[in-house]
Amino acid sequence: MDKIGIVYSFNTNKTSKIAKRIADAFEGSAELEMINVEDITPERFMQFENLICGASTWFDGELPNHWDEFVPDLEDMDLKGKIIALYGLGDQKGYPENFLDGMGILAEIFERQGASLVGFTSTEGYTYESSRAERGDQFCGLGIDYESQGSKNKERVNAWVSKLKLEFR
Ligand SMILES: Cc1cc2nc3c(=O)[nH]c(=O)nc-3n(C[C@H](O)[C@H](O)[C@H](O)COP(=O)(O)O)c2cc1C
Repeated sequence: MDKIGIVYSFNTNKTSKIAKRIADAFEGSAELEMINVEDITPERFMQFENLICGASTWFDGELPNHWDEFVPDLEDMDLKGKIIALYGLGDQKGYPENFLDGMGILAEIFERQGASLVGFTSTEGYTYESSRAERGDQFCGLGIDYESQGSKNKERVNAWVSKLKLEFR
């Protein structure tokens, strides 16, 4: 398997914790590099064929600033051949109409630029009204809700990483 770049903001609390949990779940079975989205450049992003990108949702359905600032660059990039898995953090009780929208926004951009998304998961077990991350009965990545389902984080991350081990090249 090619090296995997895990891209997220090092200045977040929960998104960073999940990045570390994801890295631990690989148990040394893949070469991983953690990359701060706040320092990222298109050249750095393009160094990886396999990427895991993590984003929470802020501002009622928007990407956090640190990802939003990279979007104009992403919209000029050819991502054909990239395999990208997304994880998103959201709060289904507090923001049921925009649950995990940030992950959905990233998915739309990456797909438009030609990347292949992997790591879809079932929406079963989550309660919300609408989500831009929803694709039929699946989310376009892993959904994490610290606020109301934090006790499920470990189990959800482990199951997701087992799936990614088969989906990355
Ligand atoms: C002001 C504010 C707005 C938020 N908006 C949303 C939202 O629209 N949808 C959602 O699913 N979660 C929303 N959340 C919840 C966060 O995404 C969630 O708490 C997440 O775990 C934050 O992770 P971070 O601290 O690593 O950025 C919001 C939280 C705050 C404080």
